[in-house]
This record gives sequence, structure tokens and C-alpha cells, in this order.
Amino acid sequence: MSDAVAPVGARLNLWDDHWDFRPEDCPCDVDFVAWLDALAITEAAIYHFGTGGHHHVGIECARAERRNHVLAVTAAPQEHDSFVRLVTAHPELLATYTVVFGDIYLLDERLLPEFDVVTLFHLCEFRSERNDEYGALTDLAVARILTRRLRPGGHILFFPGSFAWHRAKAVVAEWERDGACERVADFRSLIAYRKR
Ligand SMILES: C[S@@+](CC[C@H](N)C(=O)[O-])C[C@H]1O[C@@H](n2cnc3c(N)ncnc32)[C@H](O)[C@@H]1O
Repeated sequence: MSDAVAPVGARLNLWDDHWDFRPEDCPCDVDFVAWLDALAITEAAIYHFGTGGHHHVGIECARAERRNHVLAVTAAPQEHDSFVRLVTAHPELLATYTVVFGDIYLLDERLLPEFDVVTLFHLCEFRSERNDEYGALTDLAVARILTRRLRPGGHILFFPGSFAWHRAKAVVAEWERDGACERVADFRSLIAYRKR
């Protein structure tokens, strides 16, 4: 049995909510799709942290003019249920959009493909001692794993508008000192880095 298996009693720190489309409160997903368009990024492999119940990134990326491929994660059963309903009604979305229900802090590096773009907009927002109870990764460890799975020249984006940015910016600063990525042009509410 692996060390990562939780001791009896530890329960998943799921997100018991359903985030509707509210770009006025949280513009990161809308700005992200606009960033893809501004850089004319198409046919890319994208890892997206936090779908929301609206699935804006997956739906927009599936459009013929973008055709970006999105692997996304949600810790909200309600949001995953909405994904199941969405792709049941629109199966064509499954060709480019996959949503995993889980905890990003249990990300399995061995199962990850190489990505062109990674979003970490919600870094530090929802991780707590409850994740420690089952040996979950830290925010920094998640950022490092996804950086290793980023192709050279690929981008990783953060969201300084996050309510947890006061914590996340320290994580990003430490991650930046690894030297794997360099900061490139900001875009609206987002900051972006490119892997060397
Ligand atoms: C506030 S919602 C924002 C959704 C969307 N990105 C937006 O801005 O509209 C936060 C998202 O992070 C996801 N989330 C929270 N904790 C998570 C975790 N530990 N692992 C994976 N996803 C998580 C939630 O399920 C939800 O989809």
C-alpha cells in the first residue's frame, strides 16, 4: 500500500459549492480565453485548475476557431455533475474537454501529458490542514509538477486578483526562483510566465 493512502478517517477536502459564471467577481477564466486569442494560441494542450460550474474555458476552447484541448480539475461534485450533464447534451465537447473530479493537491505526475499552457488561478485558495490529513501536496509542489510537465516555450498563468494572492504570491516568488520560467507580458487580470 502506498504512503499516499490516507489514514482511516481522513476525508477529501472537497469544494461543496457550484461556481456560476460571474466574471465581474472572478474574471480569470474570461481573461484567459481572451489571452489565448490575443496570442493566437490554437490546438494547444491546456491544464486548467478550477472549472467552475459554467465550464467557460472548456466550452470556449472547443470552438472550431480555437480547438484547444483542456484537461481541467474540479473539487466540487456539483461542478463535475454539471460537466456530465454538459457533455451528455453536447458529446462533441468530449473531443477536446475532459474534467477530472479530484484534489489538485493529489496530482499524479506520472499520468500527466506534456502541456502547452497551465493555469493556476486558484493557488492557495482552498488548501488547508484538511489536505494535510491525507498527505496532499503543497501549492509549491503542484506548481513544480506542472512546470515539469510544461513544454519548453509553454506558458503558466496566475491570477493576482485571487482572494488568496497574499499567500500565493510568496509561493509564486519561490517557484520563480527555481529559474525554470521567465515572466512575460501581463494580460488584463493575469500574469504569465514562459518556460525557458
Ligand atoms: C471560485 S471557483 C472559480 C472557477 C473558475 N475558474 C472561475 O474563475 O469562474 C474555484 C474552483 O476551484 C476548484 N477547486 C477548489 N479546490 C480545488 C482542489 N483542491 N482541487 C481541484 N479543484 C479545486 C473548485 O472546484 C472550483 O471549480
